[in-house]
Amino acid sequence: MSDPQPTYLHDYQPPAYRVTHTELKFDLAPSATKVSARLQLERNPARGEEALPLELDGEGLRLERIAIDGQALNPDEYAQGDSGLTIHRVPERFALETEVVIDPAANTALEGLYRSGSMFCTQCEAEGFRRITFYPDRPDVMATFTTTLIGDAEREPVLLAGGNPVERGELPGGRHFVTWEDPHPKPSYLFALVAGDLEKVEDRFTTASGREVALQIWVEEENLGKTDHAMASLKRAMRWDEETYGREYDLDLFMIVAVNDFNMGAMENKGLNIFNSAAVLTHPQTATDAAFQRVEGIVAHEYFHNWSGNRVTCRDWFQLSLKEGFTVFRDQCFSADTNSAPVKRIEDVSFFRTAQFAEDAGPTAHPVRPDHYIEIGNFYTLTIYEKGAEVVRMLRNLLGWEAFRRGSDLYFARFDGQAVTIEDFVGCMAEVSGQDLSQFMRWYSQAGTPEIDANGHYDYAKGEYHLTLRQRTPATPGQPDKQPLHIPVRLGLVGTKSGHDLSLTLDGEALGTDTVLHLREEEQHFVFTEVAEAPVPSLLRGFSAPVKLRFPYGREDLAFLLANDSDGFNRWDAGQRLAMLALDDLIAAHRNGVEKVMDPRVIEAFRVLLGEESDDKAVLAEMLTLPSEAYIAEQQPVVDVDAIHAARSFVKQGLAMALRDEFLAIYEANLSEAPYAPEPEQIARRGLKNVALSYLMSIEDERAIELAQRQFEAGHNMTDVRSALTLLTHSSRGDLAEPALKAFGEQWAHDPLVMDQWFTIQVTRPQEDVLDRVRFLMQHPAFSLKNPNKVRALIGAFAGQNRVNFHRIDGEGYKLLAEVVIELNRLNPEIAARIITPLTRWARFDETRQALMKAQLERIRGEALSPNVYEVVEKALA
Ligand code: ARG
Ligand code: ZN
Repeated sequence: MSDPQPTYLHDYQPPAYRVTHTELKFDLAPSATKVSARLQLERNPARGEEALPLELDGEGLRLERIAIDGQALNPDEYAQGDSGLTIHRVPERFALETEVVIDPAANTALEGLYRSGSMFCTQCEAEGFRRITFYPDRPDVMATFTTTLIGDAEREPVLLAGGNPVERGELPGGRHFVTWEDPHPKPSYLFALVAGDLEKVEDRFTTASGREVALQIWVEEENLGKTDHAMASLKRAMRWDEETYGREYDLDLFMIVAVNDFNMGAMENKGLNIFNSAAVLTHPQTATDAAFQRVEGIVAHEYFHNWSGNRVTCRDWFQLSLKEGFTVFRDQCFSADTNSAPVKRIEDVSFFRTAQFAEDAGPTAHPVRPDHYIEIGNFYTLTIYEKGAEVVRMLRNLLGWEAFRRGSDLYFARFDGQAVTIEDFVGCMAEVSGQDLSQFMRWYSQAGTPEIDANGHYDYAKGEYHLTLRQRTPATPGQPDKQPLHIPVRLGLVGTKSGHDLSLTLDGEALGTDTVLHLREEEQHFVFTEVAEAPVPSLLRGFSAPVKLRFPYGREDLAFLLANDSDGFNRWDAGQRLAMLALDDLIAAHRNGVEKVMDPRVIEAFRVLLGEESDDKAVLAEMLTLPSEAYIAEQQPVVDVDAIHAARSFVKQGLAMALRDEFLAIYEANLSEAPYAPEPEQIARRGLKNVALSYLMSIEDERAIELAQRQFEAGHNMTDVRSALTLLTHSSRGDLAEPALKAFGEQWAHDPLVMDQWFTIQVTRPQEDVLDRVRFLMQHPAFSLKNPNKVRALIGAFAGQNRVNFHRIDGEGYKLLAEVVIELNRLNPEIAARIITPLTRWARFDETRQALMKAQLERIRGEALSPNVYEVVEKALA
């Protein structure tokens, strides 16, 4: 077999034929489902006068019949290959009929039509539809769909597809059917069906213009009590999109289905969103606050796609961020409006700077709009989604909300029902604002994280503050040279005497106390005049651009910003920077075998925080959280996992010892007997309380152990139980861990989503014997390599979150991951290509580990690889 070949953006051509209507009939059976398709096709004038052959995608389909306008084709009239079928000559306008047989039960890749437990479901984005029937499976071919599902009346009493149900009836042999019609032309990737023994929870929504919409969440019977939060989130999201973007829902019915086996979070299929059960089901006893918030965000995300994705979709998959970046930005704003806006920003940025920066610095770095790919399934990345959202956020900030909203209105009006490009989107923003966004477009084509070196000084005699900003984007694979970007740098100058933001005057213009500098050149110099006192600059407020910004802050400066900055995000960031300086010293001390000494300034800064009667407990909880090991690693030239772990534990314990009483007081002040609700005030209290407990447990204080045990046993809600169980499990005291784990595992053996948490808690323990536990748990009856949630909860969590053990110097962690990748490569290539990520980051480690990691990548390369794993491994070893 020849190596998989890339697809290039510059090769894009419009389709030779358009599909105006698609009629599908599914005769469902687990191992042999018959799919009959009737496509209305017509020649696309955009490709000229000449009659071109008709190319259809199709994989793993057994063709039983093919006919044009009722006339069966002779074998010499078409050619069939591994990836599709070509019909040499076709009329200008015609009906193509095919019948194929597929095997959903054997589909462990979970793309196309597959079985999840006893149900049938689909995942078609990006290229799953071609595993269902022969079709021009590309997003710029949009058709109306009529779908008939035939199933067993007992085993599949519920038969769902997108659109509105128009007909149903009984059939001989205990079978029945339902026909669905979707009046909105859609690309094949938005097709979906679900069949099985499901129950629904129903609600209603009245749109702004008075249209009644039925809302349904379909689940397996045992999950009926876990849909309230998703339903409430859906209604909030529908209202928010009307109020914020003027977007109304457009069908009479909106359905969500929860399935247990799903590669990603969820999918925005028109009228029939399919969700990973982990992204929809919640209950106070089984889901943490974080899970509740994740569900709210994902429900909103998929709903928002109905406009940013479905009504206006992508011309080709290179434009993926057109819908994903915009939709993530929309769901981030929704969550910020619904919860605590500064905390949402802190969480998002903290994740972004850890995970997306790492992607940008690794061998799979790619621009927000890539220009080639081998397997598009590998490009559902943090860069496309999260960096794409940051780019849209910068547009919002550059234009201001009001103009941005006009740009969004123009985009939806002009391109409704079309498949378009990122230029179309940015073009609308340029048009409504009159701004020149041509340099800004580089954000879409240039990979890598820009670095800004900032320097400043105060001229006391002249009352001036001089700021120099210098930008540079490091080389990434395939992009050695970078151009300067248009970077919005929001900032303020905080007066060291007053502790307040000073008025800003630049080139004689008064700019208020907070402004955005436009950095466009490699280096720019800014002189603020009439600066009455020496300031500390607060730079990149709110993370106004997805860059790394360095400034030679002293520790006093950072403690000052932590206490005084008016920007909540930058206060938090100052605390992180301060902690990083202390951590750097300790990492160096650990490496040099020198005794570690705790920086008293960090203790003082924390003492101030803990003493504040802060009304924003959620922000306080974030400020008390030390940078994660993964984030610290990102800051090091060569990652030393052991030194990082030792240094971070040392700081944590140092703070806990110095501020024991303060932490204890915080813990006690935030206990609450109120019945659980996933609302911001309660979430903040629980968060703060559990952060305090984690400090106390880090020194295994007797009182803390007692509190953790009591919290675990009280079982008020999963947030508190999971926190306590994690702390007990991660303590050095096996006598605490084992009984709690056993009790929890027995109590929740029936609930797969809780067992996922049980796996994660165990495999993230820092103790050295954890690798044996990972292998042991892989044999546990609740574990299965075929279920992506299980793989993520156990293998993903171990390799991604347990850094000291995954990076064991004997290489056993790497070996284990390679074994799993090799097996998953056969079962589920998409998951295999994701779970391998930690191995691809070998270049960041010492030589011994580099060699061990590369050896495992080579071992994987020796296998017969799916295009997904092939692409990632080739890049990693390039
Ligand atoms: N469009 C979906 C979402 O972001 C994700 C689909 C992912 N599909 C895939 N094959 N990776 O909401
Ligand atoms: Zn999405």
